[in-house]
Order: sequence, then C-alpha cells, then structure tokens
Amino acid sequence: MTEHHKPERLLVTGGAGFIGCNFIHYWLDQHPHDHVVALDALTYAGNLASLEDARSRDNFHLVHGDICDTELVERLLRDHRIDTLVHFAAESHVDRSIHGPDAFIETNIVGTHSLLKAAKQVWLDDPGTATADHRFHHVSTDEVYGSLEPGDPAFAETTPYAPNSPYSASKAASDHLVRAYHHTYGLNVVTSNCSNNYGPYQFPEKLIPLVIINILHGKPLPIYGDGMNIRDWLYVDDHARGIELCIQQGQVGETYNIGGNEERTNIDIVRTLCTLLDARFQADASLAARFPDAPPANGQASDSLITYVKDRPGHDRRYAIDATKTEQTLGYQPVETFERGMEKTLDWYLANEPWWQAILSGEYTQWLEKHYA
Ligand code: NAD
Ligand code: DAU
Repeated sequence: MTEHHKPERLLVTGGAGFIGCNFIHYWLDQHPHDHVVALDALTYAGNLASLEDARSRDNFHLVHGDICDTELVERLLRDHRIDTLVHFAAESHVDRSIHGPDAFIETNIVGTHSLLKAAKQVWLDDPGTATADHRFHHVSTDEVYGSLEPGDPAFAETTPYAPNSPYSASKAASDHLVRAYHHTYGLNVVTSNCSNNYGPYQFPEKLIPLVIINILHGKPLPIYGDGMNIRDWLYVDDHARGIELCIQQGQVGETYNIGGNEERTNIDIVRTLCTLLDARFQADASLAARFPDAPPANGQASDSLITYVKDRPGHDRRYAIDATKTEQTLGYQPVETFERGMEKTLDWYLANEPWWQAILSGEYTQWLEKHYA
C-alpha cells in the first residue's frame, strides 16, 4: 500500500545544480504556494544564474552552505519547519571521481550521513519538533547497479549493487546509509535511482552540453573508446515528475527506479546532435554569424569533429532502467520523447549562451569567489 504525503515546506539540497534547479522550477510551477529552501555549497557545479527566476519569489530561499554542516541543516529544518527534504547535493561527474575521489567520499557519503543525522535529530528525537509527518527523499543513480552486457535484463530495484567507479561507490554507500536510517531509527525515507538526465542548465562537462558547445566552437568531439557504450536517457523534467510521485505516494523504506526507456549508444547521441545542429544552421543564417568556427558555418558537417579518444578507466558498458515498479505502483510515465527532448535541450543552449559562456570564460567563478568566498 502506498502512503500519501503532502509536502508543503521543502529543503532541496544541491538546488543550484543541474537536476536540483530543474526540480525547483518544476516544483514551484506545480506547487506555487509551497515554501522551498535550497541549500547549496555553490561548488564549481552550482550556479546561481540557474535559479534567477526562483530567487525573485517570496516563498523561495537560497542558503549558501555545506550539507556536511549538520548544525546548519538542523537549524534550517527547524527554522523553516521543513516537512520534506529532497537530497540532490553530490559530486556527480564520473571522470572527476577517477582523478580525485576524496571530494566524492566527503560530500556523497559524509554529507548524506550529516543530513540523516540532522533529520533524525529534528524529526525523531527532539520533543519540540518530532513529527511523523516528514519525508527524506534521496536522489540516487542507476550506476550503483554496475554495468550491463548487451541482452542483459535492465536494472530492477532488486538488482544487486555492483558500483564500479568511485562516484557510483560513493552513491551506493549513501543509499545504504539512507536505508539503514529507516530500518534502525524509523526515519521516513524513500530513494529513487535514475538513469542519465539531459536538459537545460547541465554543466558543460557532461556529454550532451559538451558536444553542443564544442560543435559551436569547432572543437573536437571526444568519444571515449569505441563510442558503443549505452546509456538510458531521460529528459530532466521527467525525473522531477518521478521524484514528485515518489515523495507524494512512495512507500517509506522503498526504492524506485526512474528511467526513460531510451537506450542509445554514445556515438548515436553525438551524431544526433550533429544532425540537429547542421539543420539549425541551415534554417537560421544568424547562427553562422554568432558561431563562425562551427563546421556548418563553413559548409561542413558537424560530425567532421568526431574524434575517438582513450577510454574512461573502468567505463561501464551499458545502463538500462526497468521502471515497471514505479510505473505500476506510482503511475509514473515519462512524457518527453527523446527526439523532442533533444531539440528542446539544443534550443535552450542556443538561446542561453550567456549562461554557459560565463562558465567557460571563468567569469562566473570569479564572481562567485568575490561574493561567496
Ligand atoms: P550537479 O553536479 O549538476 O549538481 C550538484 C549540486 O550539488 C551543485 O549545485 C553543487 O554546488 C552542490 N553541492 C556539491 N557538494 C555540496 C555540498 N557539500 N553541500 C551542498 N551542496 C553541494 O549534479 P546533478 O547532475 O544535478 O545531480 C544531482 C543528483 O542527482 C546527484 O545526487 C546525482 O548523483 C543524481 N543523479 C544524477 C543523474 C544525471 O544524469 N546527472 C542521474 C541520476 C542521478
Ligand atoms: O547514469 C546516471 C549517471 O549519468 C549519473 O549518476 C551521473 O551523475 C551523470 O554524470 C551521468 O554519468 P555518465 O558517466 O553516464 O555521464 P557523462 O555525461 O559523463 O557520459 C555519458 C557517456 O558519454 C559515458 O559513456 C561517457 C561518454 N563520454 C563522456 C564525455 C564527457 C564520452 O564519450 N566523451 C566525453 O567527453
């Protein structure tokens, strides 16, 4: 049986990151009277410009702080009378975890534990604030399940964990801590494990924004290994929709898979983006003036930039999500098709050049250091 929860006062960790900011836009759109607090350390991946619209609202507050600061989290839960914590904050890039795992252990494991301790203290232990009407939603990834071979069944919630990178191992550890706080202390937790997201506001180190921006600048498109690794792509708003269902109707202590049913090889993704951009340049002459180094500005095809490079160490071959449980018990269904989602994403990057130029030029980092040191 599902348990209904009606969130009204949310604390969203990692709200200035890619999925966190899209979730906040989605939530305030769907629930315009809810009180939303975002807690974000504004690391390289956090961006205040992604929350510009939300920041003008009275019912939205951004707090610059670290999830490892348990006292701060307790204070926020109390002062804002939070009933629902949605936990996105993480170090999220697999390549970075290979070169420097420490930050992943600190934020993803220690940070998640800090949030759990604060939630237990305020929602279970303190007589003045304890309430059964609370929810801790933990946002996790399909990478905890490891790697699939072609023909293997997709990951289900019952698939054993087999994380392969420091990133996925740190997420797996955090999932286990969340589970333990339910079983041992009775904290009302729900975890969702989602496949690869794409859409607006994604930091340009990830495959899709990296490829779009490199094409516009006429730079090589690095394809790791043979380009045949497979990911299951989901438009970011559909992830937000899935999390909303989990929060409202998910059963405490349960985990839910969220996916797009859109398995694609990496080379297929890159070629799709090349074709879409070539067509955009053909239809709109102003693009050649804005991006004179892009191949289609010079009568060439964008796929001429494709460059095969050394593979990512330990590169997982295939991910695929079986979302049957989430579909059948919560009524989850992605609404965006892959084709429309890719077009929307591409058009967002074309229309929001100042957002990504500020990141590429270092202008945003300098501003952040000056104002938020
Ligand atoms: P992101 O890297 O874009 O954003 C992470 C955010 O967390 C940033 O705003 C950053 O400043 C903040 N942050 C980092 N360390 C912090 C700390 N110690 N305290 C407070 N804030 C901190 O990540 P994303 O792609 O938006 O991913 C969000 C969550 O979703 C992560 O937990 C990730 O594991 C999970 N996830 C991501 C995907 C995907 O495809 N991107 C898919 C499934 C699950
Ligand atoms: O599956 C969910 C995961 O998806 C999330 O948990 C992670 O936070 C998120 O970063 C993402 O991980 P991936 O490693 O799959 O995403 P990334 O965009 O880094 O890479 C996608 C695929 O493209 C992967 O097979 C590696 C490949 N790739 C990536 C880059 C950046 C390339 O071939 N070239 C590149 O330059």
